[in-house]
Amino acid sequence: MNLIESLKWRYATKRFDASRRLSPEQLATLKEATNLAASSFGLQPYRVVVIEDPAVKEQLREASYNQPQLTESSHVFVFAAKRDMSPEYIDSYVDRIAEVRGVPRENLDGYAEYMKGSVAGKDLESVQTWNQRQAYIGLGTLLAAAAEMGIDTCPMEGFDVAAYDRILGLEAQGLTATVIAPVGYRSPEDATQEHAKVRFPVEEMFTTV
Ligand SMILES: Cc1cc2nc3c(=O)[nH]c(=O)nc-3n(C[C@H](O)[C@H](O)[C@H](O)COP(=O)(O)O)c2cc1C
Repeated sequence: MNLIESLKWRYATKRFDASRRLSPEQLATLKEATNLAASSFGLQPYRVVVIEDPAVKEQLREASYNQPQLTESSHVFVFAAKRDMSPEYIDSYVDRIAEVRGVPRENLDGYAEYMKGSVAGKDLESVQTWNQRQAYIGLGTLLAAAAEMGIDTCPMEGFDVAAYDRILGLEAQGLTATVIAPVGYRSPEDATQEHAKVRFPVEEMFTTV
């Protein structure tokens, strides 16, 4: 399928086929694709917890208004944004740049200070919102990658954040659940797949100046 066909094929899957599972190779590709998502400065200020344990999925379903995608999907990707943006985290990112690009760390000190200064100008709520925005870019990249692979997904915000943070122990890791995506294969019984895709006309969505 080409990209447009893949994006037309995908839909927010309501009922997954609980008997079908993704292979380890498919999961690895979805993780790699998500990890290649763009982020502001490249900081990737979120982590992704992939849920496969049926007992945990059951708990998450209860914390998600009993939506069946939680237990019928193969895996659930939980995007968890960082609760802050510490100088230490920025340093760890700059260390990583130095390692990957083979650049002396001291050559990057100015860049590290620039990023720290940029963050220092924001209050904590703005930092958290900023972090969460980056998580959504990861989500979008996952949805597109999965569609291209013929894998179904359902982006979801309909869950109890505090309950997720407790069940997955996210607060202790400095994270908070932001958005999730069950992944797997659509059930033939999911009538939603027959619904025409509703979007405003491209001419209405876009203007050219
Ligand atoms: C951020 C976000 C949160 C969403 N939350 C839910 C949800 O909790 N449950 C659900 O069934 N669908 C959820 N959806 C799916 C949307 O309703 C769906 O993407 C939209 O109606 C467009 O339809 P399509 O994705 O099938 O093209 C969510 C979508 C997004 C992007």
